[in-house]
Amino acid sequence: MNPVMDVLLNRKSVRAYEDRPVPDVVRDEILQAAMRAPTAGNMMLYSVIHVSSQAAKETLARTCDNQPFIAKAPLALLFLADYQRWYDYFIHSGVERLRDQRGEPLQKPEEGDLFLACCDALIAAHTAVIAAESVGLGSCYIGDIMENYEAHRDLFKLPRYVFPICLVCFGYPTKQQMERPLTPRFRQDFIVFENEYRALDGREYKEMFRPMQDEMARGGPKPEGIENPGQMMYIRKFSADFSKEMRRSVRVMLQSWAQA
Ligand SMILES: Cc1cc2nc3c(=O)[nH]c(=O)nc-3n(C[C@H](O)[C@H](O)[C@H](O)COP(=O)(O)O)c2cc1C
Repeated sequence: MNPVMDVLLNRKSVRAYEDRPVPDVVRDEILQAAMRAPTAGNMMLYSVIHVSSQAAKETLARTCDNQPFIAKAPLALLFLADYQRWYDYFIHSGVERLRDQRGEPLQKPEEGDLFLACCDALIAAHTAVIAAESVGLGSCYIGDIMENYEAHRDLFKLPRYVFPICLVCFGYPTKQQMERPLTPRFRQDFIVFENEYRALDGREYKEMFRPMQDEMARGGPKPEGIENPGQMMYIRKFSADFSKEMRRSVRVMLQSWAQA
């Protein structure tokens, strides 16, 4: 197998790190790789904050749904969907005057622009993850950074058209993490379709979730009345308090972003 496929097929999230720093030269190599990622219109609609402050990491460990390992990550990179840079540059470039001459209103970033900037930021983030993996570093995404928008905006001094789409923790994996097996995935035919979308039926869902159902049957205690993986994921993830907070937080950000 070629070494790139080897890295891709063996990556797993790492949440416990050896107590040793990531050298600056390694961090910069990872960032260089991230900045080579494809980017819409070659606009680089993202920024990255290297969170080196221990106090900030401790705050994030709390505000990102209480995940203490964030505070212990030797390297934490915050990937921001960023339309502020281009919008400010447009203004510096005299586009307001240009629009006036043409008798057209000034276009501001809207939801579609946010989606595009999120694509850029996430592609850069995952390029960093793979680059890190290739030099022996483990990593873990923190999606809970989308919660508590107001607190994160104030902590990192984020302007209106900047949204923290993911935080990534990096560090050298502990021996136990190295030995941990890969997490399973759904079968390819449930995920990859040809030419058109295909809704699955009840029989296929049963098949798709059989390994999880079996695991549940073997497993320990589960919340009262829970019968299957669908109910479990609904209670533990989809309708859990952290998901509710994420929805609230993103709504607040969107109201500010898309305001006329
Ligand atoms: C968008 C996104 C957000 C995630 N957020 C978290 C998180 O907040 N905390 C965490 O421990 N893992 C988080 N993860 C890691 C997933 O839990 C992990 O990728 C998944 O369980 C599969 O495990 P694997 O990466 O080891 O294959 C996130 C992953 C992604 C892609």
